[in-house]
Amino acid sequence: MILRILATLVLSACGVSGDEDIVIADFEAATWGDWQISGTAFGSGPAAGALPGQMSVAGFQGRGLVNSFAGGDESTGTALSPPFRIERSHVAFLIGGGADAAKVGVELLIGEQVVRQATGAESEDLVGDAWDVSELQQQLARIRIYDYASGGWGHINADHFIQTDTPPERFDLTARLEQYRKSAEYMDEMFRPQFHFSPELNWMNDPNGLVFHDGEYHLFHQYNPAGNTWGHMSWGHAVSRDLLHWEHLPLAIPEVNGVMAFSGCCVVDTQNTSGFGSDENPPMVAIYTGHGHGRQVQNLAWSIDRGRTWRLWEDNPVLDLNNPDFRDPKVFWHHPSQKWVMLVSLAAERVLVFYGSTNLKQWTELSRFGPAGSIQKPNWECPDLFELPVEGRPGETRWVLEADMGAGAIAGGSGGEYFVGEFNGTEFRASQHAQWVDFGRDFYAPISWNNLPQQQQRQVWLGWFNNWETCLVPTSPWRSCMSVPRTLSLRSVQFNNEEPEQLVLVQQPIEELKQLRTSTLTPDTSGIAWPPTAATSPGDLGGYEFELEATLIPGQGRSLGFRIRSGSDEYTEIGFDRWQNAVYVDRTHSGVVDFHPRFAGRHLAPARLVDSGIQLRVLIDRSTVEVFINDGEAVISDRIFPVGDDPVLELFCGGEGAQIRDLRVHRLQTVWRK
Ligand code: FRU
Repeated sequence: MILRILATLVLSACGVSGDEDIVIADFEAATWGDWQISGTAFGSGPAAGALPGQMSVAGFQGRGLVNSFAGGDESTGTALSPPFRIERSHVAFLIGGGADAAKVGVELLIGEQVVRQATGAESEDLVGDAWDVSELQQQLARIRIYDYASGGWGHINADHFIQTDTPPERFDLTARLEQYRKSAEYMDEMFRPQFHFSPELNWMNDPNGLVFHDGEYHLFHQYNPAGNTWGHMSWGHAVSRDLLHWEHLPLAIPEVNGVMAFSGCCVVDTQNTSGFGSDENPPMVAIYTGHGHGRQVQNLAWSIDRGRTWRLWEDNPVLDLNNPDFRDPKVFWHHPSQKWVMLVSLAAERVLVFYGSTNLKQWTELSRFGPAGSIQKPNWECPDLFELPVEGRPGETRWVLEADMGAGAIAGGSGGEYFVGEFNGTEFRASQHAQWVDFGRDFYAPISWNNLPQQQQRQVWLGWFNNWETCLVPTSPWRSCMSVPRTLSLRSVQFNNEEPEQLVLVQQPIEELKQLRTSTLTPDTSGIAWPPTAATSPGDLGGYEFELEATLIPGQGRSLGFRIRSGSDEYTEIGFDRWQNAVYVDRTHSGVVDFHPRFAGRHLAPARLVDSGIQLRVLIDRSTVEVFINDGEAVISDRIFPVGDDPVLELFCGGEGAQIRDLRVHRLQTVWRK
């Protein structure tokens, strides 16, 4: 008892008692008080919520908050706190608004030096954030809230700055997940893909760190633990033993002190070259881009427990060019030259840089590739490089270099291109011009699995099933899914008599997908004509989870194909257009299309006749269509959002002599537990 009184006396003599939080600023007064305000963005005092012209603002505490939307996104300014002494392990606060850390955000200053930084996530919902300041104890600090931005999302919201030893959990993801997992809708909402990977909750973009280790396929991905739009980018994580059924795991690599974990890759360091593990237990090493404080650098994180927990390397970064657009490393072991090779993008210059290393920690530049390929692109990101067999030529291989552009792709918006060529361990040389990876609008940033077992003898990748231009698809509480995993090879193809043969990238759904087939229908395809007629009766397909295989034999008319109808004027059309020599997906009438003006449309892929027909394999899930043409020599991947729930398969042709042969419709079962 006496001891306790003594302790209290000592603590109160120091000015603070126990673990109590210390409020730095809560913005409940009508004026800024001791804060120094410059510019016009912060208005004459704390805001009471949204300001004129702003969407609704939520998540702040009490009546007031800092909101730099005074005068709209155009206005700029700063708000600087009076100095305070750091006396707790964390400074915690609520933050929302723009995500461009170079222009908007919150900083912790010691003297004039910025020691911590945070920014919003392009959301008007404020979320909790905290800086670990344990190493800054007793120093005098100030908080600066800055808005130097005048474009879209050019504002910052913040509230309730406190010092605390128990920072609130950053996001309420754990509690939300717990609740969601118990809900009747779990992985079963209207647009929820049933055989494509998607996160349980929140926003996802690029696949990251695809690697096989110890019997498990890992699928890391760009993930926002805080919400259903892009922001707070971290690595989400899932594992599978068959590439079909996925187990969602906790966040692997979080955003730390305002540095987001952007895209990257993962290797199994079998020989423990990095020293992070041991010979008996080789480490998994993730190489990813740290994005924050105005630059992008390459970082390492490692795990010695099969990817369940991750440590960030204390000597990060491994590469820093002091460049704001230097991202998306892909690393692989180059056996002939016995070294690690990294490929990373100088995105704004549209140049890929190759580095070599023997320990994953020290990297030396080997060569550069680009600018090359499409000249439309504003940037280049998420590169990949791998060696593939050429079909029908035993022992022959070529290297394929793939990279993605944020805009300007074949079907509009974002997409990928690839080069076929040679890689000698130092330099990549293209032997053909660039080709499009996918002819739909929704296949982005694919990367291939590292470390697949030798005996599988295959290269497999998957991509983000979305397009940056139309990425705010109408789904909640999650957003985005991945394509099905696809097996890759090269094939020599002559598209028409005028052109020489060229090697094209062939993508086919992984063989494992057939395991999901439950039953097969063989609809009658005789006498097809115009208008489209139902080939299977309503309800027969049992939902939007089916796979269709057919050969189209074009006759005299312009087009033939299928409609997947889900309502009286709602359908997605897939067919061959004889005038355009192309297979197409037309999603103009596919359901919800008006969430973005560039969403509705018809997307074409060049197609040649093989044995006078065109073979199609079409995967249709609740909100996706993937069309693999002639055993995968071209692919169209498109999202669709059909509202009707009674699908009918209709067949059509526009003239004499056309046939649909070998039509088989396989029902696929869901991969999610019900
Ligand atoms: C591509 C990309 C990457 C980046 C990541 C951020 O979709 O812009 O270049 O690492 O997304 O989420």
